[in-house]
This record gives sequence, structure tokens and C-alpha cells, in this order.
Amino acid sequence: MTTLSIIKADTGGFVGHGAVHPDMMDEARRELGRAIDSGLLIDGHVANCGDDISLIMTHTYGADSALIHSFAWDTFQATTHIAKELGLYGAGQDLLSDAFSGNLRGMGPGYAELEFQERPSEPVLCFLADKTEPGAWNLPLYKIFADPFNTAGLVIDTKMHTGFAFEVYDLQQEKRITFDCPAEVYDMLMYIGAPSRYVIHSVRSKTLDETAAATSTQRLSLIAGKYVGKDDPVMIVRCQSGLPAVGEALEPFAFPYTVAGCMRGSHHAPFLPVSTDHGHPSRFDGPPRVVALGFQIHDGKMIGPRDMFADPAFDRARDQAGEIMDYLRRHGPFEPHRLPLEDLEYTTMAELTKRHADRWTSMTTEVMTTEDAESGAGAARVG
Ligand code: F6R
Ligand code: MG
Ligand code: MG
Repeated sequence: MTTLSIIKADTGGFVGHGAVHPDMMDEARRELGRAIDSGLLIDGHVANCGDDISLIMTHTYGADSALIHSFAWDTFQATTHIAKELGLYGAGQDLLSDAFSGNLRGMGPGYAELEFQERPSEPVLCFLADKTEPGAWNLPLYKIFADPFNTAGLVIDTKMHTGFAFEVYDLQQEKRITFDCPAEVYDMLMYIGAPSRYVIHSVRSKTLDETAAATSTQRLSLIAGKYVGKDDPVMIVRCQSGLPAVGEALEPFAFPYTVAGCMRGSHHAPFLPVSTDHGHPSRFDGPPRVVALGFQIHDGKMIGPRDMFADPAFDRARDQAGEIMDYLRRHGPFEPHRLPLEDLEYTTMAELTKRHADRWTSMTTEVMTTEDAESGAGAARVG
């Protein structure tokens, strides 16, 4: 069995929260090279989107391996060290714990992992995002694996026609459920249409009995109990031969749908598909963006990457995203550009509530007799 792991963390931004310094990328590459030489990894590639470094690795240790996770943790410590030396912004931002203990769950870095028996040819797409949350993958995953207007194979490929099973996490209550699609598509949409809370964690082919997609689902803001940055998620999608074609897996991103994140993790903004050269959010710390790296996995080796959004066919989505960004920006501090109060990553509300507590006066005087109350009749409102 081969395991493909993407483990990512923001260990310091250059400049501000926009990108990773080349020296940090070099350090991560050096560490990855050593891990390949020592036999820990079969292969690896270092990539970034915005201020997050992604270690994309193949190995044989399965998901949640202490060996692989501790290697990633040590690598992020090393890149943090460089960020501190250079005085980069938010050095070590996502490393929330002082010491590594077993695996990375709850420690800050995000990860998506898939273990599989390599098929004769194994095309995979690794999606990396910055300035948004893991629920940002809900819409494209639904389209890729459940929407026949996106994925022709759902209708005309016998290996896909039975559909896919979606594993969905409730991030607030730490519960999970599996929806059998297409039968339960309407039920599932009720949940995943609320992506700040319900997040698709994995997708499985019912015909092939193979996991086809996996996402990172940690919510740092909840883990840390305070704001430490949006989670900036990653996702793996396996393609072809009874799974969605590469083009079907990329197609949802031709629509620059709106995600939560952007400036101060507190705004809705369009999700911009970009080539790796453009994976550096700047305008209003955004717009949130996604890069896609394509690999052929062969005997565990990662042949690639190909920069999948470096295609003029996505120019239209990029132009539209610019227009949507202009439109939303003109709302300034008003919803729906600014997130609803309960989803803000930054807020002054607690302070304001205290400061103005004595100044708010009631607009209604409730006149209710004892008999009214006992009979359940409503109170008369005096304006
Ligand atoms: C959003 C993000 C940035 C920062 C913003 C303020 O996920 O990373 O938009 O929230 O630049 O950052 P601080 O508070 O560090 O000055
Ligand atoms: Mg940052
Ligand atoms: Mg980031």
C-alpha cells in the first residue's frame, strides 16, 4: 500500500501573511531530501500556497503515522527557526504546542492523507488553498462526485454510475456521518451548504470500494480556543478509471464561488484558481486562492508536478473573480462581505458589549397582568 500525505503549516509569512520566504522553502526541501535518503519517505515535493508550506509525501506508513507526522513537525520547527532569524511575520504561527506527542491532531498543522493500492496508473491532484477554511472544498467535492452537470462520468461511466459515499464531519460537535449518494444528495446538501460547520472529510467510490478524495479538516480557531488564522485547507483527489477524470475534478473551479476567509479570516470573497506563480494573496489579503498540483504516482514515486491551473481556460474564472471581488469590497464592513457575527475571526463585539451595556435602553415596556401571564396571552407592547 502507498500513502500520500499532504501536511501543511503556516510557519511565518513573507511579507505579512502573503507568501513563504524562499529560504524556508529551501530548508523544507533539504529536510525532505534527507527523509527520502534515509528511506522514511519514498518521495516528496515541497509546495506552498500563500503563507502555508505543504509537504507532499509518499510513504508506506499509513495515515496518522507518528513517524511521518513527527518528521513534518520537525521540518516546520526548522522553517520556523529561519522565519525567526529573518524576522518574518507570524513565525511559528501554526505550531500550537511546545512538544510533539504521537500525531499532529490538535497541534496546528493541517493534513490530508490517503492510503491506497496503486492502480496500474495513478493520477492524483493535490489542491492547496490559502485564506479560507476546510469547508471551502464542500462545493467542488459535491460537484465532482455528485453533480452530473459537472461530471459526465456519473451518467455515462458504468464504474461511476452507482455513485459515491461522502463522509461529513460536524466540526462543532466532533461527530461524523456518511451519506450515500446520489440517494441522499438532498439530505447531504442541507448540511454541507453550511461549510463553516459541516465539512466533507472523504469520498469513497461505491463500485471500486476505494477512497477517492480526502481533505484536511482541523479548525485552528476552535483548536486554539482563540484566533490563530484560517485553516487554509488541502485536499487530495484521485482520478480516472472509474474515478472522476482530471478535467472533471478541475471543472468546479471554473466558477469562482464565494468562500469565507480573506482579510482577517472574516470576509466572504471569491475563490481564485491560480498557477503556483500566483499563489500569493495580496489584495485585501486575498482573494482566497487555490493551486492544483497534478502527479502520477508510480511505485510510490511522484512523477510531476504539473501546475494544473496554469491554463488560459481558467482566465475567465479569474476575470470573474476580480469583478466579484470589486462588488463585494464595496460592501466594506457590511454583510454579506463581512462574515456574520458568530463566524468572525476578529471581533470587537465583546468589548463593545461591555462598553455600551449601560447605554442600550429597552424599546418595549411589557405590560402584562398576572391573569395574562397565567392564561398565556401575549404582552401588550407599548412603543
Ligand atoms: C487571514 C490572514 C490575514 C490576517 C491580517 C491581520 O487568514 O492571515 O488576513 O488576519 O493580515 O493579521 P495580524 O492580526 O497578524 O496583523
Ligand atoms: Mg500567516
Ligand atoms: Mg495561510
